[in-house]
Amino acid sequence: MPIPHSYSFARYLSAKKSVDDRALNQHVWQSLVAALPHATPEQPLQILEVGAGLGTMVERLVASAMLTHAAYTAIDLEPTLIAEARHRLPQWATAQGLQVQQDSQAHAWPGGHEIHMQRPGQDIRVATEAIDLLRFVAREQGQRTWDLLIAQALLDLVHVPTTLPALLSLLRPGGLLYCPITFDGGTVFQPEIDLEFDMAIEACYHQTMDRRLVAGKPSGDSRTGRHLFTHLRAAGAEVLAAGSSDWVVFAGPNGYAADEAYFLHFIIHTMHTALAGHPHLDTERFTAWIAQRHAQVEQGTLVYIAHQLDLLGRVSAPLGETRE
Ligand SMILES: C[S@@+](CC[C@H](N)C(=O)[O-])C[C@H]1O[C@@H](n2cnc3c(N)ncnc32)[C@H](O)[C@@H]1O
Repeated sequence: MPIPHSYSFARYLSAKKSVDDRALNQHVWQSLVAALPHATPEQPLQILEVGAGLGTMVERLVASAMLTHAAYTAIDLEPTLIAEARHRLPQWATAQGLQVQQDSQAHAWPGGHEIHMQRPGQDIRVATEAIDLLRFVAREQGQRTWDLLIAQALLDLVHVPTTLPALLSLLRPGGLLYCPITFDGGTVFQPEIDLEFDMAIEACYHQTMDRRLVAGKPSGDSRTGRHLFTHLRAAGAEVLAAGSSDWVVFAGPNGYAADEAYFLHFIIHTMHTALAGHPHLDTERFTAWIAQRHAQVEQGTLVYIAHQLDLLGRVSAPLGETRE
């Protein structure tokens, strides 16, 4: 595909879905399936997803049939993404053969919008809300708890030492935390253009993550995945399963899969924006490097690998308080 003239984060997240599908660690996924408590119509599984984007994880979980009866709360900071999720999820569910009802005035829920999906053996209610996760925690703490908390491709964007304990406080005793696609310090492009310059760009790019400030506070870590082992223990959770979930994107005999050429252009554009004017990178050389990477996508020769980890954790449960 030609180089896009403009970029849409929603289209990027949609294009990312097939890349994530291949990347998700199956051992961690199966450990999650095994650890989930049994759900019933009277006691549906309570799931909270933070930084849910378009709701592609909702789609994945519903499609996998591992969810039978669930009350799913999906929040994201970005109102445009939540609006897109409210548009996209019913369409997706209908195409999958589920019966769908929407309640845009679900008064019991501050987010005010609920999607109800049903088919034999599955009854899922998805409540969505555009809200910052820490504001959500402050509002819900002590009011409600969840069985499972999902944070996909999110924890590398926030200050984990403060965010993780806040999020875990919303889990019931023995509740689970699933954090797949957590970036862990590897950005690889093939073929090499100039190994030394390629490596300098990778190092500078990771440094932008390490130095990221949101509202004046540190919010990012290019090695979040490996650091999660320590953060989880410090926050009182044990690690049940972990494994790599690297993105590997390349063109097969029919070119890049699905919308993955767009995904690659978006990644290159993100790096261009993050590193434009960087004092350690010669501007002309860096501009030429970016143009060459875009051209490689057009030619179908670019291979992109990002190293990531999936972790499954559990908060401790006083004896006799686990839900089976
Ligand atoms: C890389 S995207 C991943 C989206 C989705 N989990 C996925 O994997 O497709 C990170 C998401 O986290 C959201 N986000 C970032 N900071 C947040 C915060 N403080 N509260 C809630 N959402 C946040 C962003 O708006 C974005 O949609």
